[in-house]
Amino acid sequence: MDIVGASLEAIEQLKKTSVDELSEKEAADTAEHLSEIIRQLGHAYYVDDNPLVSDGQYDFLFRALQDIESRFPKLKTPDSPTHRIGGEPLEKFEKVAHPVPLLSLGNAYNVEELRAWFERCMRLLTDEGANEESVDLIVELKIDGLALALTYQGGSLVLGATRGNGEVGENVTPHVKTIRSVPLKLKGDPPARIEVRGEAYLKLSTFEELNRQWIESGEKVRANPRNTAAGSLRQLDPTSVAERKLDFWAYGIGPVDGDAPGSQSERLSWLQSLGLPVGPHYALCSTIEEVISYCEEWTERRDQLDFEIDGVVVKVNSIDLQDRLGNVANAPRWAVAYKFPAREATTTLLDIEHSVGRTGAVKPVAILEPVEIGGVTVSRATLHNADYISERDIRIGDRVVVKRAGDVIPQVVKPVEGVRTGKERIHHMPELCPECGEPLVRLEGEADYRCVSATCVAQQKRLIEHFASRAAMDIVGFGEKLAVLLVDEGLVRSIPDIYRLDAEALLALEGFKEKKVANVLEGIEASKQNMLSRLLFGLGIRFIGETTARLLVSNYLSIDELGKASQEELESIHGIGPETAGSVYQWFRSAQNRDLVEQLKGLGVNTARLASEAPSVSSNTKVSDKTFVLTGTLATLKRSEAKQLIEQAGGTVTGSVSSNTDYVVAGDSAGSKLGRANELGVPVLDEEGLLAMLEQ
Ligand code: IVH
Repeated sequence: MDIVGASLEAIEQLKKTSVDELSEKEAADTAEHLSEIIRQLGHAYYVDDNPLVSDGQYDFLFRALQDIESRFPKLKTPDSPTHRIGGEPLEKFEKVAHPVPLLSLGNAYNVEELRAWFERCMRLLTDEGANEESVDLIVELKIDGLALALTYQGGSLVLGATRGNGEVGENVTPHVKTIRSVPLKLKGDPPARIEVRGEAYLKLSTFEELNRQWIESGEKVRANPRNTAAGSLRQLDPTSVAERKLDFWAYGIGPVDGDAPGSQSERLSWLQSLGLPVGPHYALCSTIEEVISYCEEWTERRDQLDFEIDGVVVKVNSIDLQDRLGNVANAPRWAVAYKFPAREATTTLLDIEHSVGRTGAVKPVAILEPVEIGGVTVSRATLHNADYISERDIRIGDRVVVKRAGDVIPQVVKPVEGVRTGKERIHHMPELCPECGEPLVRLEGEADYRCVSATCVAQQKRLIEHFASRAAMDIVGFGEKLAVLLVDEGLVRSIPDIYRLDAEALLALEGFKEKKVANVLEGIEASKQNMLSRLLFGLGIRFIGETTARLLVSNYLSIDELGKASQEELESIHGIGPETAGSVYQWFRSAQNRDLVEQLKGLGVNTARLASEAPSVSSNTKVSDKTFVLTGTLATLKRSEAKQLIEQAGGTVTGSVSSNTDYVVAGDSAGSKLGRANELGVPVLDEEGLLAMLEQ
């Protein structure tokens, strides 16, 4: 039976027989069965990004396992998935000596230094009898997080340790167990003991969402994802780590029992086959020029990623050649980090302005002497809130460090020390709303000062702008300028008014000609068919970010159903906390808001969940609609047989590897297609991996 079938059957079974009625033997069998199901569902969700059941179903199984373990504590094995929510707080961190030290990397700050590194490698290897053509290099992204060493014994995670000083780190096993993408148990045929090395990090989207929640609940704003990830692992209480949703990527191995593959690229594939997450972007290069173009490509593209990278790691691919090159001091000769130019710059903080957001929160905005950071001129940056400014003692007139990363709004990090002239001024929040002049309030436990005036036009403008924005209803041609204009002209006072706009009204606006008007109206019309999660996010309900909106929609069929949910019911959804549940519940209790939803419905805006938003329960989502390329000689199957099996499961087999390929299935003597797959970061499976996928 496939995993979805097994999950549904287990749910049925548990609904019939309560956990309290199970004998010890039955409880042991059920716990083992549930652990396996939850592990597989978790892997599909967190590593493959392919949920197989709804969150509600997952939670039901998870809670049943927790119940059994609390009745029979000895059934809680060290690799039980219930460790994911964090264990007992630690008294202190234990030290762990690394049997083989975790090295650091030498840096290359420009192309010349990269070439010099390569030439040095080649010189040393030529002395050893290798020739340049035979030296392949592998390039990987250098993710900006924290190095971890994970030890698996008998396939189970037994130790997670930080790098520390490279020789001695700290035991953070309970923390590591909360990282959902770290398998607690390896797949396939793992060695008796293996140490996996990789990086723990926070996705930028997760970081932003966490910061949003922290700000809303009056906690401190964190300035960067790396330090936040590091801070998480330094908390003695692992449950707070679980809330921070760290991620992990494996990039290498430490001591291992038995043989490991003889090249870094094969090691990455091997780690992946053991169920470990491996970064999606790496490539094999046969010349240093290819390496340089890869580095240049990622210098340009780093903004497209949902995590911070600070460079590219270049490694000699063959482990044999790595061993021959050896190490100097605490860094290997066989690898180097090509560092991107920093995305921080210093400039002068000319002034602090205050902008009113869609929830009425008044945010301090830094007005900067324009400065170029990574190819973009920055003249405004966020200062988050008054506490952020006072905690860092940022003053108007200071030289300040400004940082930008990905799509995140640039922020002032801190003042530059030791360069004050004495003319700097301390910042004070205004007492009145800079837009409408009403007094600002700071509610108990909140970091923000707020304009609570229901008629504050600034809030209306921001809400309309947010509603139409790309992440929300994505109305083409409808940006900040138009939102401001429409509110100022009195054409739009609330969200439904957007759908009442007509050509006549728009043509009367300055600069609006037929074509532009037609485009905007077309964009507005098209947005009526949007996914429900976009609408929900667009409504600007406090604490409802994009992710939470999607999560809510996966649990309710329509906005009406969501509106009927009790606070307890909302809270019982895995991933929805009491504050979010309270905010959604309260929003729907307002007659004005309910009327707004009715108006939208009347205007033809979709308020029901689309089929594409439903949690997937199809039987083989792993293979159906996926594109495969077969290469090399497979262990037992003929290629034609493998093709037939894939096609029967709804997949497609094509002849060449491109960015549209989902998987490459490689057998013995696989050729250039495998190289191309590695170059494009397409996951590579062997026959066993393919069969495992087909079985699900
Ligand atoms: S290889 C001896 N590969 O960068 C080889 N490291 O500055 C050392 N890092 O502490 C590690 N991404 O935590 C390697 N793809 C990658 C990496 C990576 C990030 C970190 C690693 C290390 C630091 C060295």
